Amino acid sequence: MEKYAEVFDYSNRVLELIEKEEINAEEAAWVTQQTVDNFREHVNPGFLTYRKSVTKDGQFAAVEWKDSGLNGFMDVSGKEYIDCLGGFGIYNVGHGHPKVKQAVINQMNRQALHSQDLLDPLRAMLAKILADITPGDLKYAFFTNSGTETVEAALKLAKMYSDRTTFIATTRAFHGKSLGSLSGTAKGVFRKPFLPMIPGFRHVHFGDIEMMRKTMEACAMVGEDVAAVIVEPIQGEGGVMLPPDGYLKQLRELCDQYGSLLIFDEVQTGMGRTGKMFCCEHYDVVPDILCLAKAFGGGIMPAGAIVATEEVFKSFFSNPFMHTTTFGGNPLACAAAIATFNVLIEEKLPARAAEMGEFMLTGLRKAAAEHRDKVLEIRGLGLLIGIEFHDNEIGYEVAKRLFDKGILVAGTLINAKTIRIEPPLTITNEQAERVISEFGNVLAQIQM
Ligand SMILES: Cc1ncc(COP(=O)(O)O)c(C=O)c1O
Repeated sequence: MEKYAEVFDYSNRVLELIEKEEINAEEAAWVTQQTVDNFREHVNPGFLTYRKSVTKDGQFAAVEWKDSGLNGFMDVSGKEYIDCLGGFGIYNVGHGHPKVKQAVINQMNRQALHSQDLLDPLRAMLAKILADITPGDLKYAFFTNSGTETVEAALKLAKMYSDRTTFIATTRAFHGKSLGSLSGTAKGVFRKPFLPMIPGFRHVHFGDIEMMRKTMEACAMVGEDVAAVIVEPIQGEGGVMLPPDGYLKQLRELCDQYGSLLIFDEVQTGMGRTGKMFCCEHYDVVPDILCLAKAFGGGIMPAGAIVATEEVFKSFFSNPFMHTTTFGGNPLACAAAIATFNVLIEEKLPARAAEMGEFMLTGLRKAAAEHRDKVLEIRGLGLLIGIEFHDNEIGYEVAKRLFDKGILVAGTLINAKTIRIEPPLTITNEQAERVISEFGNVLAQIQM
């Protein structure tokens, strides 16, 4: 009983905190202490070591507390940050967009989760929206709670449809970390301890169409026909790698030639991020299965989806329970996703991403022009921008100094050789200008 009393008291204190919008200095100190101690003792002390590597002085212990406008957040001490990490691509419509938030609150007040048995309306309506808004003849949707789950669903659907077991993914790919998606993910450090992966996965160099052709040909020759090729149209986690001209079109042709499906993982590039609603629209290529997550839930709810053609998806028609998840497509997530599309359209955010992306790309390149000894390349499309440095250390130093100035950026592939600039698509001109100018200042300060 002693134990329960302790947990009850502690949870009461936390619930009181959650209720508060503002906290005083004493409460802030308690929150910080509790967070750091509990990360060390009960979450994973490795996070504290990581935070120390990307911050200066004692700032590793910065504890986030609340949104601060659409494009930033505030820590418990009241310091504000412009969010150029964007939750690794979840905040396309900004932090806590009022329309998305209100839709979720309204739905929560009526019914938060579904019965699991009757027909739930929002899932049906969101599926129709997806069929209407995605390119080509993508028509049927299955809903998930995260990116990795989305990829799992895509892989299982491809197996079910094709009766084949071979998949081709690409080097530098990131598709998630559950065992199926991890099999497609390319980073050795994440894969090695968990080998063997699910059988049948091969990796070829991203952008190398000849290698892809030869691999597909060899697979066919040895009787291991390819079920699907899975690829991010622009690799996010891999360092913002854009495909060479014509690559995705040629990939489509190869897949058609070998009867293989083409899966586009747009978990990070979708929802307006690159300047079109879906990145594949830049390249005029339609996949057989499209994967969405991250910003799909509007930065408010965890949500994801695959959208597939009828031809492919019909493999799940005879037994809709073949692949399921309790919470996937729940009413709160669907309300958030429906509101997110509404906001993306109403505020023309894909076009805004294109415009602001161009502005930031030009500005960042200009700021880096005199620092070629530090910056190797700045590349991107829309508001998915990668800054590649000559080495990891420069990247860490830039990230640390920007954090100090209240600008949050993200590394890629657990290092900082390339950092990502991935702000909400609602970032203002003023904020973008501040990011560019602080980037220039920081580069000038770093001694080699
Ligand atoms: C392209 C891509 N696919 C899949 C994932 C995995 O998503 P999640 O972390 O929600 O499982 C990510 C996450 O960064 C991603 O960028």
